[in-house]
Amino acid sequence: MRMRGNIALLLLMLLQCGGLPGIAVGRCVVFNFGDSNSDTGSLPAAFGFYLAEKLKISYLSPYMESSGSNFTSGVNFAVAGAAVTQTSAIPLGLDTQLNQFLHFKNRTRELRPHGAGSMIAESEFRDAVYAIDIGQNDITLAFLANLTLPDVERELAASASRVGDAVRALHVSGARKFWVYNTGPVGCLPQTLALRQKPGDELDAAGCLAAYNAAARSFNAELAAVCRRLAAEYGGNATVVCTDMYAIKYDLFANHSRYGFERPLMACCGHGGQPYNYANLKTCGQPTATACPEGERHIIWDGVHYTEDANAIVAGKILSGDFSSPRTKLKALCK
Ligand SMILES: *[C@@H]1O[C@H](CO)[C@@H](O)[C@H](O)[C@H]1NC(C)=O
Ligand SMILES: *[C@@H]1O[C@H](CO)[C@@H](O)[C@H](O)[C@H]1NC(C)=O
Ligand SMILES: *[C@@H]1O[C@H](CO)[C@@H](O)[C@H](O)[C@H]1NC(C)=O
Ligand SMILES: *[C@@H]1O[C@H](CO)[C@@H](O)[C@H](O)[C@H]1NC(C)=O
Ligand SMILES: *[C@@H]1O[C@H](CO)[C@@H](O)[C@H](O)[C@H]1NC(C)=O
Repeated sequence: MRMRGNIALLLLMLLQCGGLPGIAVGRCVVFNFGDSNSDTGSLPAAFGFYLAEKLKISYLSPYMESSGSNFTSGVNFAVAGAAVTQTSAIPLGLDTQLNQFLHFKNRTRELRPHGAGSMIAESEFRDAVYAIDIGQNDITLAFLANLTLPDVERELAASASRVGDAVRALHVSGARKFWVYNTGPVGCLPQTLALRQKPGDELDAAGCLAAYNAAARSFNAELAAVCRRLAAEYGGNATVVCTDMYAIKYDLFANHSRYGFERPLMACCGHGGQPYNYANLKTCGQPTATACPEGERHIIWDGVHYTEDANAIVAGKILSGDFSSPRTKLKALCK
């Protein structure tokens, strides 16, 4: 998770669903679309460290470095800084990622008869889980454009409906299982608090930037409506599971002491100390930055990404299915 900036850094994941010992189980193929650089990159982040263990996942080489890559069990098309809208400065938006996927599928079909390529079978494409985890960059971009909250919310509603379009396009290509993550409380990130807060801005009960969190909830409400519409459209012919990452993550900040996090809004690795330990151009990775002492528990690692401690909790809650609608465990989807 040490990726930064607009580079087309594509993380690849190979998911291998664990079965009962001694019983042959089909591979669980996962295709992931989204913005892995952001807080909502919870899928790669949480998968990398914890879901991976639980589901017996291993990593593969990035899509962009495809020579010699092993795509047998899925591809992560998620890209650092991706946003749903094409108006963003980031070239690899959701539409581009979709095209990459369709191209990948075409190549797989061409190469399979020759025993080459990813060797993912048609049935595996059909049974794969298609995960979409995006939205946060749309929020920050809308605020950076100096839009008012109502205008931000209008933009975000359009972004949410484009997520629905992406699901429909994947469905047309034969996909039947979808897993949509909503976006986390971006107003609680040290980076947002340190860089976007203006004098007089309202903070919420957890000390987070209220307008950003309101925008996140607004996007999430639209996304939930999109999920319900999709479920109604497909009836029993496709599964659409939506997971409430906002609830999972906001709980970490609001109830931080219960989880053993002392200073929830302070980055572990950064510069400047209290209250956020985040300074522009002195971010984690720069020589001016230092990491918190070993053993100190923080929610956020570098101002944007969640720590392994936090991801362990987040992953457990994702896996429980309690925050998903309909209540579904990934393992049940992955069969
Ligand atoms: C790709 O990964 C799969 C699953 O881990 C493995 O069985 C296969 O041998 C690998 N193929 C290559 C060419 O490395
Ligand atoms: C995939 O193949 C189909 C038919 O062979 C073609 O119409 C489509 O344009 C291809 N898409 C991509 C992204 O390569
Ligand atoms: C937004 O407003 C700030 C402060 O008024 C200004 O510096 C910045 O250039 C504006 N950004 C855009 C995209 O208009
Ligand atoms: C589900 O698929 C069946 C068979 O293809 C079709 O008859 C039915 O209309 C579909 N239902 C929905 C809600 O699309
Ligand atoms: C904090 O924890 C309590 C008790 O589990 C729970 O009811 C409440 O919803 C949590 N707060 C948030 C914001 O999730």
